[in-house]
Amino acid sequence: MRVVSGIQPTGNLHLGNYLGAIRNWVKMQDDIAASGEEGSECLFFLADLHAISMPHDPAELKAGTLEMVAALVACGIDPDKSVLFNQAQVPAHAELQWLLTGTARMGWLNRMTQFKDKSGKNREGASLALFSYPVLQAADVLLYQATHVPVGDDQKQHLELARDIAQKFNNDFCEDDAPVFTLPEPYIPPQAARIMSLRDGSAKMSKSDPSEMSRINLSDDADTIMKKVKKAKSDADALPSEAGGLEGRPEALNLVTIYAAITGKSVEAVLGQFGGEGFGKFKPALGEVLVETLSPISARFRELKEDRESLDAILARGAAKARERGARTLDNTYKALGL
Ligand code: ADP
Ligand code: NA
Repeated sequence: MRVVSGIQPTGNLHLGNYLGAIRNWVKMQDDIAASGEEGSECLFFLADLHAISMPHDPAELKAGTLEMVAALVACGIDPDKSVLFNQAQVPAHAELQWLLTGTARMGWLNRMTQFKDKSGKNREGASLALFSYPVLQAADVLLYQATHVPVGDDQKQHLELARDIAQKFNNDFCEDDAPVFTLPEPYIPPQAARIMSLRDGSAKMSKSDPSEMSRINLSDDADTIMKKVKKAKSDADALPSEAGGLEGRPEALNLVTIYAAITGKSVEAVLGQFGGEGFGKFKPALGEVLVETLSPISARFRELKEDRESLDAILARGAAKARERGARTLDNTYKALGL
């Protein structure tokens, strides 16, 4: 298994990102490393080349990329087990994307719903990069002969496009027994927790929520975490002893879900433990398990974030590994095209 996954280089990571995404990547990395299969590995890249398809602030992009690397490493992405890098330091991504634009059809790209969503009413004013973004995504995974690509619903269409491009390229330019590209399969990650705002049980916990109290940031220290949990919206009733009793109580459900996700217990098991108790008792217990899990992560994150030298070194080493992994495919692509 060769898994390739791109991550937007945004900062301000929170508990929702950790429980809903990053923790799964760490598990995937560790499972694949434990399988001991020859050639099996995860490649995680910061999608900084994708970021320029939308209006962006260069200084923010740079800072966000570094912050994301710090967060991933603090959460357990291990640069010795996985290849962790940013696209911009591996020119083969941009090169291969251009080579694939000869194979990708305008009609295929015209059908991409994400371009329609992101360009909105201003199609004429959208960047060319926003339109061709899915070709760069195809290059991102085809370059490494990815067998599996983790995709959410919004990315399924782009993975299909990558498969179409690979298939047409192999068909048009390669001998049947020597295709240049592997057709990647979608990898559907295990059901991840969906974490809601601490101030509003009907809104997703998000970095774009203006209220700091709505989320627990990966950089929060123990006191801040305890304070946010204590102030979290709840209700006056005791916790039920069965999950059905949480219906119509979104804030209560969210807090129990967080407790379950962070401890690896089921919601039923958590209610078995706390059913009958009020939030005066449950919230401190929740705060404690959160601090226990997040403290080592946030300490490492805050330390790494300030250590520019280490972050640069991690990225340089990841880029060198990625360049090596992609070299042969890039070379074969040029050759197949007569270049
Ligand atoms: P945000 O909503 O804060 O902008 P992103 O959209 O950048 O977060 O999401 C990055 C990753 O984190 C995605 O894989 C997304 O599914 C996951 N994620 C974000 N918020 C949550 C949440 N509240 N609960 C679970 N997963 C989340
Ligand atoms: Na978002």
